[in-house]
Amino acid sequence: MSKGNEVPNLVNYIVGNDTLQQLLPHMFEQLELCQKALSGYLDQKRAAFPRFFFVADATLLEVLSQGSNPQAIQPHLQSCFDSVVYAEFNKKDKAKVEALFSGEGQSIKLTQIVNAEGNIEDWLGKLLREMQVTVSRIICYAAADSEHMSTEELTHKYQAQVSLIGIQFKWTADSEDALYRAKAEKGIIKATNKKHQQRLTDLVAINMRPDQELRNFGKWTRKKVETMIVVDVHQRDVFVDIERFRVKDIEDFEWQKQARFYWDFDHDAAKISIADVDFHYTNEYLGVKERLVITPLTDRCYVTLSQALGMFLGGAPAGPAGTGKTETTKDMGCTLGKFVMVTNCGDQMDFRSLGNIYKGAAMAGLWSCSTSSTASTSMCSPWRRSRWAPCSWPSRWAPRCSSSPTARPSTATRRSATSSR
Ligand SMILES: Nc1ncnc2c1ncn2[C@@H]1O[C@H](COP(=O)(O)OP(=O)(O)OP(=O)(O)O)[C@@H](O)[C@H]1O
Ligand SMILES: [Mg+2]
Repeated sequence: MSKGNEVPNLVNYIVGNDTLQQLLPHMFEQLELCQKALSGYLDQKRAAFPRFFFVADATLLEVLSQGSNPQAIQPHLQSCFDSVVYAEFNKKDKAKVEALFSGEGQSIKLTQIVNAEGNIEDWLGKLLREMQVTVSRIICYAAADSEHMSTEELTHKYQAQVSLIGIQFKWTADSEDALYRAKAEKGIIKATNKKHQQRLTDLVAINMRPDQELRNFGKWTRKKVETMIVVDVHQRDVFVDIERFRVKDIEDFEWQKQARFYWDFDHDAAKISIADVDFHYTNEYLGVKERLVITPLTDRCYVTLSQALGMFLGGAPAGPAGTGKTETTKDMGCTLGKFVMVTNCGDQMDFRSLGNIYKGAAMAGLWSCSTSSTASTSMCSPWRRSRWAPCSWPSRWAPRCSSSPTARPSTATRRSATSSR
């Protein structure tokens, strides 16, 4: 080192030094071995808790190095969960997680306390399962309550995502009941339309109240009610169209193409059907999320993407900038209670980081949405079970994962598309 310090040109010094010339390749080999061992170790941890695939190597090492201190995971929860920003630990026993909080301050109390002891990847896996069990259980109560509870009660009793799915259960049940009876009972569709309109009026009335009053139910209440209104406006409009088109059969495509919400007693889970494809709600805790205005284009995207997913394919929304490709994919994920991992495929993304995201999505059963202005069509290739079978990494397969590259066509493509119209 001291000799090297004396020679200003480092390359000249190394070229003229025999010892260094022999030592450096060996050191480089050793370094490569270390890096290989390290990435093998990280892969092992990622295989145990696939959401670690979305955490960068350096961050993951930091998380793993603080395994004995469960509190240290707090800043990294956002990388592993959709909306959990804070886990509440028991005040006395600091190794027990009792509740999860979203960024807005809304919480869910876990049905069973999770012991944050042992390997971090193991207890995070338990925390994830417990989160899903808890959300599923609350939705089960909401499904039962939606049959008899008033809109106001249903709105204030539950968390934002649960109240929303509550009114979606109610809307589906009322609408299907009307469609079943439509042939025999004249005027039932009109009466149901009034019912839907009344629910919307009730929600608007809640939203008209002053901030102080709404804050009693939590500071996020206005956002929650507004989101419910956005979704309910669409639900009302759908049934107005059902009346306009004189639909009297539950099998009519005009009804079937909608996202319909049921409680599936056989599987004890919420079920969402779009056309002939059924999904089970994946019970991710979504906090208080704003939802998109559902336009006819959103509707069509839902039908197309759900059909693709039903065939184990992915979707690739394409269109001009800012038309909602990414948001529509994310919004459909919210409808199905999914964690959608959105990645911006810039220049800094290489095949390894993209591969990690796809592995994570496949193993954790999430959706990955890669947004790019230059996304190549090869990324849209179908996702079939068989594609993953020969992979060398652990073959833990989650049945409903998906990849949706959302791409802006290049200006030339866009021009030719416009001119061919
Ligand atoms: N149906 C909708 N309801 C409400 N807001 C919407 C809707 N569709 C799109 N937006 C809003 O438009 C903006 C652009 O949406 P988004 O980012 O999804 O577009 P994009 O097509 O993915 O754009 P880019 O090509 O730049 O990636 C967002 O702020 C989004 O909230
Ligand atoms: Mg986008």
